[in-house]
Amino acid sequence: MNVTSKSPDSPKTAQSTAHFPLADQWGRVADDLRISLIDKCNLRCTYCMPEEGMQWLPKKSLLSTAEAIRIADIGVRLLGVKDIRFTGGEPLIRRDLEEIVAGVRALHPDVSISLTTNAIGLDKRVAGLAEAGLTRINVSLDTVRKQTFAEMTRRDRLDAVIRGIDAALTAGLDPVKVNAVMLRGINDDQAAELLDWCLQRGLQLRFIEQMPLDADHNWARENLVSAAEIREQISEQFRIAVHPAPRGSAPAQLWDVFAKDEPVEDATPLGQVGIIASVTESFCAACSRTRITADGHIRSCLFSHEETDLMELLRDGSSDEDIARRWQSAMWMKPRAYGSDDVTLNSADYVQPERTMSAIGG
Ligand code: GTP
Ligand code: 5AD
Ligand code: SF4
Repeated sequence: MNVTSKSPDSPKTAQSTAHFPLADQWGRVADDLRISLIDKCNLRCTYCMPEEGMQWLPKKSLLSTAEAIRIADIGVRLLGVKDIRFTGGEPLIRRDLEEIVAGVRALHPDVSISLTTNAIGLDKRVAGLAEAGLTRINVSLDTVRKQTFAEMTRRDRLDAVIRGIDAALTAGLDPVKVNAVMLRGINDDQAAELLDWCLQRGLQLRFIEQMPLDADHNWARENLVSAAEIREQISEQFRIAVHPAPRGSAPAQLWDVFAKDEPVEDATPLGQVGIIASVTESFCAACSRTRITADGHIRSCLFSHEETDLMELLRDGSSDEDIARRWQSAMWMKPRAYGSDDVTLNSADYVQPERTMSAIGG
């Protein structure tokens, strides 16, 4: 699939993708499932949550342990899902996370099970999660400066996050990726510093362009720290070259990172850096994701305005096949890009979805 074009060109017929259960009318196939387990979080990143006043989902409307395992099982067994990622809010807030991972692992020994987390408390749980069958982990960390961290997350928890990252490395999870959002005037001068810190620990850093999904509705195109700007900044300290492996449907474009003064001919990379350019270098045409919210609704796109209720079926005695059919129909209607067939994130027509990033799960 062409990952450089902005969005798929024309609708496909149902027949052309009949062998792929989670196909959409634009010819894409979803096999990468993200399940949000909870909307709550113990940080308040400014690009995600408001300082206060979030309305949390009531506990009884969250997917239970058994429901989360069942959703994952239906995805893999009936719908061709190959990767499962648990997200939040902050998924470590769920005390039953190990049980959920172990439950899915017992049913599907070969599926990839990963976690996106802020790593607070991970030091005490990562060994148990690895034992339960977790394959890999992505940690959100935007800065290694204590004061900047406190400013961006509204909490003084940098030390806890670093402890969590170190524990994940010790537990042997590989790769451990770090996600960083750059904010204008806050940490936009720290890209090379963060990259250096990650390279020294063997972490794969990915920079993410800020998306208009914040609860405070403060996103502004003119403040965006773009992929091009990030590449320019890190190139002042390192040499980067496009990583040779095919990108497939990954949101991140990968770059090999080299020491600046090493001769180009026989240089070995110090590691890789990824850039997720959701705004300026859209990858909707290659999207392979299907999302379930913490209250059991399908979102075919991160930016969707419509959701499809699976919780109702999970709780009314419907069969796995009924659930799979509803899921398939929802994905068939996946919009071409950004929650609507003809909208870009830069256009005046873009309308932010009601759920914020913390309630969607990234
Ligand atoms: P890997 O499998 O490790 O590549 O994970 P990932 O990058 O899919 O997951 P992660 O939870 O670490 O997400 C990193 C960033 O990529 C988050 O900001 C996500 O919102 C963003 N991202 C993931 N999938 C999509 C997508 O379908 N569309 C857009 N625009 N952004 C996405
Ligand atoms: N734009 C881009 N990335 C975001 N994240 C949260 N909110 C936003 C946003 N508005 C990132 C977090 C986390 C990942 C799941 O999503 O930093 O790493
Ligand atoms: Fe919590 Fe992640 Fe949102 Fe930060 S971005 S407030 S860590 S859910």
